[in-house]
Amino acid sequence: MKVLITDPVDQGCIDMLQKQGILVDMKTGLPADELKDIISDYSALIVRSGTKVTAEVIEAAAKLKVIGRAGTGVDNIDVDAATRRGIIVMNTPGGNTISAAEHTISMLLALSRNIPQATQSLKEGRWDRKIYMGVEVYGKTLGIIGLGRVGREVALRAGSFGMKLIGYDPFISDDAASKVGVKLVDLDEIFSESDYITLHTPLTSETKHLISEAQLERCKTGVRIINCARGGVVDEKALLKAIKSGRVAGAALDVYEDEPPSAGSMELLKHERVICTPHLGASTREAQVNVALQVAQQVADVLTGGAVRNAVNLPSIDPKVYQRIEPYLNLAEKMGSLQSQLGEGHLREVSIEYRGDVLNYPTSPITSSVLKGIFAGSSERTINLVNAPFLARERGVKVNEIKSSEHEDFSNLITVTYCTSKGKRIISGTIFGKNDPRIVRMDECHFDAYPEGDMLVCGNVDVPGVIGRIGTILGDENINIARMTWGREKSGGRAVTLLNVDSPIPDQVLEKIVAQKHILWAKRVRL
Ligand code: NAD
Ligand code: MLT
Repeated sequence: MKVLITDPVDQGCIDMLQKQGILVDMKTGLPADELKDIISDYSALIVRSGTKVTAEVIEAAAKLKVIGRAGTGVDNIDVDAATRRGIIVMNTPGGNTISAAEHTISMLLALSRNIPQATQSLKEGRWDRKIYMGVEVYGKTLGIIGLGRVGREVALRAGSFGMKLIGYDPFISDDAASKVGVKLVDLDEIFSESDYITLHTPLTSETKHLISEAQLERCKTGVRIINCARGGVVDEKALLKAIKSGRVAGAALDVYEDEPPSAGSMELLKHERVICTPHLGASTREAQVNVALQVAQQVADVLTGGAVRNAVNLPSIDPKVYQRIEPYLNLAEKMGSLQSQLGEGHLREVSIEYRGDVLNYPTSPITSSVLKGIFAGSSERTINLVNAPFLARERGVKVNEIKSSEHEDFSNLITVTYCTSKGKRIISGTIFGKNDPRIVRMDECHFDAYPEGDMLVCGNVDVPGVIGRIGTILGDENINIARMTWGREKSGGRAVTLLNVDSPIPDQVLEKIVAQKHILWAKRVRL
């Protein structure tokens, strides 16, 4: 297990990984080609925002299991490419929230009182008291776009200065906004009412150039813009134009469309009414220690088979919850695998129905486990909880999740219906006690089978002698039967027989079994 760190992170990160017996190489400032050349040696990669983890790098990363981002934004990582390869991408949300919020507030005040410009002027020997007349923030309207962790901390602090707070975030409730003193409004109102606009969204296709020429034209004359979120949310050319025209009184920027900023951005950065810092929002000792330790522990957990936390391409599972759902994850994967090994024809649709106690836990990872079991043998790629749902989408397989009520016979029950071009098969499974998995139904036949190891599954007619003949054939071939169970639709009707055997069943033995009278079909599976 080797971890590569390619951006500067606190030494605590390295120490924590090494303490857990993990080898660490720290190589910062690697050119893209060099990173591509060496990445195949590593199981994990840890970055901040400096390293561009492109699809090419990911393609070359044969052993990579996890990419850890010591920070929040993952826009420097091709998450889709990682997901396709089954690589977990995780960040460390929260570790730098306070630092980013405090930086935003510092920028808000510094912009209002021209602190950087006045400092520079005094250092150059001038005494310019008139030029640097400022404005109060008290009583002014602050429009906050993005009310996640940082946006809400900014709101709490700005509220204490007596600012009027309005906010826009389509993914947050009125309640959560009003708890931090923010009235939710639509974007138009943010633009028309705000004296200051501060941005706290990720960079997505929706937020790219959210502050554009058209939006700036709708703003109050004299508005001030603060961006400590992500470059690209603000159209830098449009901002420069609006500052020159006087529509925007000033801007405070910590993040840029290109980092470091390109020559084309320098006119904006050098403008006297723009203050700027080189992406320092999270650059405090406290934040860097927080994110370094957090990312080290999260990556070590993945490498040592523990819980996955803060994955951006996998539902995050609390470690305590993970312990409880682990038996369901294992059962679900075996059910998916059983379905795909028994299935014939082209897979079209998979439905997973949950009943009873299992509904106390998040079901989406369990659904992913079923899909992992189904697709495991279908690709050269490693299939895991991250890329299995992606693979289903990519292959046009419809996946339905159904949450039903209690079941009268089982305290928990998972039913997987597998529909192909040749028909459908229903399999149900349950966990007895804390961790005792069983398959309890196949179509209309009910039984109690152990889903483990080498198995023989037969469809037969319920007449005397069939099970005896299967036993004799296996015995003659020296294949020991560990367990046997069967169920039938009705007396004399169709039946299913399941056997656990101690060694794999060779082709000719299977053929012999299939040729027996009253055997409708037979398949060997390995779970
Ligand atoms: P978060 O995920 O907690 O919050 C982001 C919020 O943006 C969410 O509430 C989300 O609903 C909202 N959002 C998403 N799309 C939106 C849209 N189209 N319109 C309005 N709102 C939208 O993230 P966070 O931890 O608060 O971080 C916010 C941003 O700040 C991120 O881009 C992060 O990378 C950046 N950040 C920068 C620094 C820095 O050093 N400058 C430090 C920390 C975080
Ligand atoms: C983040 O997204 O966490 C910040 O931009 C800070 C950083 O890049 O370290």
